[in-house]
Amino acid sequence: MFTKEKIDAIFQGAIIGKEIIFLETATSTNDVAMELAAQRENPEGIVVIADTQTKGRGRFGRTWISPPGVNFYSTVILRPSIPPHEAALITLMAAVAVVSAIREFTGLKAGIKWPNDILINGKKTGGILSEMKSASDRISYLAVGIGINVNMSLNDFPDDISALSTSLKIESGEIFDRVELLEKIFAELERAYKILLKGNKKALINDWIRLNCTLGSNVLVKNHDRIISGIAENINDNGELIIRLPSGETETVTAGDVTILKDN
Ligand code: BTN
Repeated sequence: MFTKEKIDAIFQGAIIGKEIIFLETATSTNDVAMELAAQRENPEGIVVIADTQTKGRGRFGRTWISPPGVNFYSTVILRPSIPPHEAALITLMAAVAVVSAIREFTGLKAGIKWPNDILINGKKTGGILSEMKSASDRISYLAVGIGINVNMSLNDFPDDISALSTSLKIESGEIFDRVELLEKIFAELERAYKILLKGNKKALINDWIRLNCTLGSNVLVKNHDRIISGIAENINDNGELIIRLPSGETETVTAGDVTILKDN
């Protein structure tokens, strides 16, 4: 069961989870976290967890399906002392932490689709939505929202996304304890955050490369009105995706929606 008492017992002396706000129902844990961060003097490490969300949000304004009793919806507030243009690294860090935790906890071969979709067998099982408030040259705070389809069944997904979506239960046939998963995710996040705070961006990028399922594939990247197609070749030190175009030139993509094309 997903209770505040169980969750409180887990976080002792950590940066992440110094205060846990557990809600049966939230509009969106990101909204709750952004409001809290604006009110608190030092909100770093506060974690908001909900059993269900009425307005769960994904990237590009999409809805994040958030039924009660089955999944993981959580947002952590961070205040890293890095410049705003490096904020994408925090989202990559969260993807690394989530995939490491899922692999360790379930044995499933989860992978990261650039920049931070969590896939298993090519289908989406989780995602990360980071939102930032920044002053001119520094990050005031970041709300890093993590959603994972844990114990959802295939018929719980709306028809339009069921072919592209999955859950840990669908992939493994097992039901997982969400509190134990949460413990693993935040332990991994704490480990990765400390590495980043020490300035070791390279270690983080290397972890992302080890856990990704994008590089080397033919991809389509939708970036505003443009579609770029080519081979996803690498990511650079800012976490941007480098595409090798059919012309042989490369293009660096800062943001976008990637489709991995299957080879024939
Ligand atoms: C995506 O892949 O589009 C990102 C999905 C992020 C979903 C999580 S669930 C917890 C947090 N609250 C939200 O409203 N969104 C994020």
